[in-house]
This record gives sequence, structure tokens and C-alpha cells, in this order.
Amino acid sequence: MKATITVNTDQTSGTISRHIYGHFAEHLGRCIYEGIWVGEDSPIPNTRGIRNDVLEALRNLSIPVLRWPGGCFADEYHWKDGVGPREQRKRMVNTNWGGVVENNHFGTHEFFDLCELLDTEPYICGNVGSGTVQEMQEWVEYMTFDGESPMADWRKANGREKPWKLKYFGVGNENWGCGGNMRAEYYADEYRRFQTYVRNYGENRVYKIAGGANVDDYHWTETLMREAGGHMDGLSLHNYTVPGGFEVKRPALGFDEAEWFETMQLALHMDELIVRHSAIMDQYDPKKRVGLIVDEWGTWFQVEPGTNPGFLYQQNSLRDALVAGLHFHVFHRHCDRVHMANIAQTVNVLQAMILTEGDKMLLTPTYHVFEMFKVHQDAEALALHLETGDYQVGSESIPQVSASASKRPDGTIDISLCNVDPHRQADVSLRLRGLGGELNVSARVLTHEDMNAHNTFDQPETVKPQVFDGVTSLTVDGLSATLPPMSVVVLTLHS
Ligand code: AHR
Repeated sequence: MKATITVNTDQTSGTISRHIYGHFAEHLGRCIYEGIWVGEDSPIPNTRGIRNDVLEALRNLSIPVLRWPGGCFADEYHWKDGVGPREQRKRMVNTNWGGVVENNHFGTHEFFDLCELLDTEPYICGNVGSGTVQEMQEWVEYMTFDGESPMADWRKANGREKPWKLKYFGVGNENWGCGGNMRAEYYADEYRRFQTYVRNYGENRVYKIAGGANVDDYHWTETLMREAGGHMDGLSLHNYTVPGGFEVKRPALGFDEAEWFETMQLALHMDELIVRHSAIMDQYDPKKRVGLIVDEWGTWFQVEPGTNPGFLYQQNSLRDALVAGLHFHVFHRHCDRVHMANIAQTVNVLQAMILTEGDKMLLTPTYHVFEMFKVHQDAEALALHLETGDYQVGSESIPQVSASASKRPDGTIDISLCNVDPHRQADVSLRLRGLGGELNVSARVLTHEDMNAHNTFDQPETVKPQVFDGVTSLTVDGLSATLPPMSVVVLTLHS
């Protein structure tokens, strides 16, 4: 069946916050250490300890926001151990992730330096599980207070005169699990108490994010919104795409069509989760003031053979690229409630943008989707009607094509498309309502004939965007295009 898409170019359904293209970097495996931080004395070229190749690649993604230091690590992190002269910083055990020694060389100052180098907004996650209210209060004071105070004076003594600007602050992480194994009712009260002392100093205004639900724990969302909704700006949601489930997990490579299909199906499940969590939030917050912050999402496979199981290092294939594209389409559709999303994680962990090995680095298929889709950041989502056939495996089916359209301030329209079917191309007829005049189109595609295609350090460009030559007709009303099997396409239309 031909897919037909009607885009109403004069009807917007909200702004796609650039923060939907956010990232997450935890002290986990080789994400921070090796992946980002190599230290000033490293032979790997770096800027004040941060590796230049990774910096340059990440700059090209226009990362809007970066979440740090965890994850589970956040609820065991004591920020005071990570400031001051590096050689005097405390060493600790990273109990969550491989039991390795954490030397605290990458701390608050290094994180803000990274954010400044990337021109990205920091999103700090505080420690509720094993920390104290005082510790959290003092961290915010250290980072944002511009007067005379014990913490501001300490920051200055540590080399930073002016406070940093900090908007996003998470009050704990996964407090139903690694962040303290709390019940929703208990965490709601703890959240209320901790957030009271997350102060706004001077001009700085903190956007407070409460630790949210695991997957489909609607009771958690209901309780948090009821008991603490008035004290938060955002409520998080975590959901990973884990074929086989956490008990089994499957390899990142060497998968068959059944696993491909299951992965796509699980990725699309994000839509139902957002609809149902949002419906609960709507009861308490009909004006949608509180953002749903999907601050952990992405694929979770077995670790690469021979690597530390606690490091969550996995390869990344064309399948991951489709998973990213599908998620973005879901997030765009719900951009009235989803104010931010952060993929897990930026480098060397889970569904990463970048993999490194010593001084080598490669860009994953997921990286390329983030780069192709960045045109949607802060653009107006356009109303879109899609009719598509199904991609069927056995008795199960999912839509073959998924699509999203947005308009930039200068009128340029970007349409992204995913064809998840590994066998059939998708003939798409795209009607653009509300536009007049001649159209010019430029387009790129990410695809490969092998569903397991991925980039390696020896062959880093197996999967990369190409010019798309599948537009078969172009008129003032729209266009026709043929999407290859297993492809992600972005069309850019200038009038
Ligand atoms: O991203 C890896 C881990 O997954 C995070 O630390 C935790 O929050 C989640 O369970």
C-alpha cells in the first residue's frame, strides 16, 4: 500500500522543544572517563582534559541540554568530593557500575566547562537516596550564588569567580529503585522536603524535576502529581527499549528479523506510555505547566563480548537509528507535554552517539539520526495526517511508515520519515496543504541493505547519511518519494 501524508503547513501543534534532543552522560563505564574526559596530560588532544575529537563531533549535534552525573550514580555521588585540586580529591567505589575506582577528577567545574565548550545547558541530578538536604542545598549555593557565602567563597577559591547559570535540577533519580527503593508516597514527601531547599539565588531560576516513574508505573505518576505536582516544573519518565526484557537482553549485533521487529514494536510503545502518563498529569495540571521529562531512553542490549558487564558498552546498528527516529516522532507528537528527553547515553554506554577506543572514535548510526533531525529543534510542529500500510511479522504488525513535519522560523519545512520494513520500499505521496509557489527539495537518507550494518573502528563509515535521490515527482502541491527498506529520510523544502 502506498503511504499518503498530508501536512497542513499553516497549522501548528506546538513547538518542538530543542530539549527533546537532549543527552545524558553518567559516571558509568567509559562514558565520562575515556569517552569525554582524558585529563590534561593525555596524549589524546584535549581542551583542559576534555577530548577534542568527541567535543567537535558533539558540537555538530547542537546538543541543547546534558544530564549529569547519573543515573544511579547520582544517588551515591557526593559533589564535595569532586571539587578542589584534582590530586587531593577523594577516591570512591562506583558500586553501581562495575565496582571500579572513581577518582572524582571529573566534577562540577569540569562538567560546567564541558557544557560551556558544547554551548549546552547543564542538567544536574542531585542525590536524594544517600545524600542530605543540606548537601543538596549547598551544591545549588556553590553553583549559583553570587554573593558572600561559605559555598560561593569555596567556589571562588577553587577558581570560578562568577556563579554558573543552572536551570535544570533533578531531585533524585529512579527513587523507586537505585535511588533509595522508596514507595511513591514516601518519595513524594521526600521530594517536597528536598526541593524546598533548592533555592533560586539572584537571577537564577531553577526548573525542578521530580524523579518519575519506571515505564508504566502509573501509580507513581498519580501519587507524585497529586502530592507534589505544585512543587515541581518537570516529572521524569524512564523507559528503555530492551528486546527480550532485562532478564534476557539480546546482543546488539547478529540479530534476526524477529528481533528487529520486536525492537521497533518496543520503541513505538513509548507512545502509549506518554499518552497514559500525560492523561494522569492532565488531571492535576490541565494547562500542561509541568513537563514530562523523558530523561532516560534508548536501546539496552547485552554488552559487547569480553567487555565489563558493568560498563554497558554496546554496538549500535541501523536498527538503533530507526529506534531513534521513531522516538523522535513520538516525542514531537506529544511536544505539548514532553518538554525534554535525554538519550542514554552520549559516549560508549548503551545507545551511544560515539564509541571510542584509545585515541580512535567513531560516529554511530544513532549519531547520524540526531544530526539529520536537528533541523526540528525549536521548530513548529506541523499538523500531519498519515495513512500507511503495516509491516507484519507473524500475527503482529506495526505501521510501516512513520513521519513528522516541522517549520523553521524562515518558513523552511522539514519532514522526517522512517520506513521500518526490512523488505519493502515505501512509496510515499506527500501533500502539502497551505503552501503556494514553487518548491525546492533537498534530502538525505540513512540506510543499508543489511539490518545489522554498523560502524567499526576499521570501517567507520559503513552507515552514514547519503544524498537521497528517491523523490520521484515534485509539484506545487507536494511530492512523491520512494523510501528504501529500513531507512530514515529527512526532506527539506524551501519555497
Ligand atoms: O542509564 C543506565 C542506568 O539506567 C541509569 O543509571 C539508571 O538511572 C537506569 O536504571
